[in-house]
This record gives sequence, structure tokens and C-alpha cells, in this order.
Amino acid sequence: MSYQIQHFRSLTSTQDKAKEFSGKGLSNIAVIADTQTKGRGRFKRKWYSGKGSLSMSILLKPNNIKNMQYLTFAAAISVVKSVKKSANINTKIKWPNDVHYKGKKLCGILTEGIFGKESYAAVGIGLNVNQDNFPKEIKNTAISLKIIKKKNIDIDKLSKNIIDEFFTIYNIQYTKNNMKNILKTWKKHCDTIGKNVMVISRSGKMRGKATGVDEDCSLLLKLKNKKIARIIEGDINVRY
Ligand code: BTN
Repeated sequence: MSYQIQHFRSLTSTQDKAKEFSGKGLSNIAVIADTQTKGRGRFKRKWYSGKGSLSMSILLKPNNIKNMQYLTFAAAISVVKSVKKSANINTKIKWPNDVHYKGKKLCGILTEGIFGKESYAAVGIGLNVNQDNFPKEIKNTAISLKIIKKKNIDIDKLSKNIIDEFFTIYNIQYTKNNMKNILKTWKKHCDTIGKNVMVISRSGKMRGKATGVDEDCSLLLKLKNKKIARIIEGDINVRY
């Protein structure tokens, strides 16, 4: 399956542009913006996407939209592999959708379903590439590749790499319903499992040991009373 790249200088959000393209029946497009004026993260949070950041949404028309969470996993794997290839930096995945470097956030992924006569998915990837610094709200928790490497990274090459990796997984595994393999690779790159974590979700806070993920990509948490809780969504705090 081939794809096309649409590059914009500035957008409100690449997710919005992807939705606009889906309205025209288009798919297999990677929408990239140099900056976003209204970048958004999970739980309607603001996503900082100023100069030096990579903001991209991959628009797809999947045959099995019910496995959409695996698109997030595929994107995270693609980022880890591409960052290694382009910048020689080892990163890890934090459940469900972050890529971090030594506990600091490098990348966030937001996968949104677009449901109408036909179903689409917009896989939004926000990666901190060439920022020199961050706004004070995220200063202590975010990091960029440039800060790690102390030099500029070729953002076009890196984004192309991520898209190529993503479509390889999408074509070879996702569209062929081979979610098991996606999960296997994801687990290899994820360092949440085995750790004591605190889950912060809409229903409150919960502590436990992350023991794995199930076939819906939910996190399995072993509680103090030995019961296993299934966490569908939320944020987790992990001490590295
Ligand atoms: C998160 O960590 O909460 C997810 C952040 C996702 C940010 C990306 S940047 C490209 C795409 N466009 C957006 O507005 N959001 C996603």
C-alpha cells in the first residue's frame, strides 16, 4: 500500500486536517505540520507543538477499526525504531502511548476514530525533535532529541522513517489481523511491565504492579490484595 505525504507550514492540528481529508474519502496520507496552533493530546490536553517539534497524523481507512488501539502500539514501535536509526538513541515505550527517554517524555500518540458512512483512523504522533527548551509547565517532564544529542536532527528524514516503519507494520501485520506480532514487538520495547506503577484515571488513583497487557491493549495491574485490575485508559506514574 502506498502513501502520500502532505506537508503544511502551520495547522490548527494535523488531526483536524486528517479529518478533513477523510471527509473527501482520502486515506493513506501522512499529514505533517511544522507547527500547530491547537495541538491536542489525550484527555483534551494541550500539546505543545512549536518550532522544532514533529507533528504528524497518519490517516487510514482500516478494514478492522475495532483493533484501533494496535495502531497506537504500531506508531510507538515505529517511533522507537526510527529514533534509534536516525539519532542512535535508545528509547522505551510507556503504556499506553508514550515514548520516553530515561523517564522524560519524547513522544505522545493520539489515535482517534472518525466514524461515518465509512470508518477512518487518524494516528497522531507528536515527537520532540529539535526544541532547545520547553514551556515551564512541561520543562521537568519533557525532553527533545536535540537536547539528548546536543545537535540538530534531520526532521524530514526522521518523519519519513517513522511513516515507512508504520506502514510496514500496518500492511504486513495490522491489515492481516496479526495483532499478536504487533503486541510482541511492542512488549519488547515497553518498560512498563514488571514495574510498580500508580494509575491515574477518571475513577481515581490505584497502585499496583504492571504484569502485562491483554488482547485489548489494556494494562493488567496486580493489586496489593493480589487481584488483577484491567486498566482501559489512564495515565501512569512510573519511577525509573
Ligand atoms: C498525548 O501524549 O497526550 C498525545 C499527544 C499527541 C500529539 C500529536 S501531534 C500530531 C497530532 N495532532 C494533534 O493535535 N495531536 C497529535
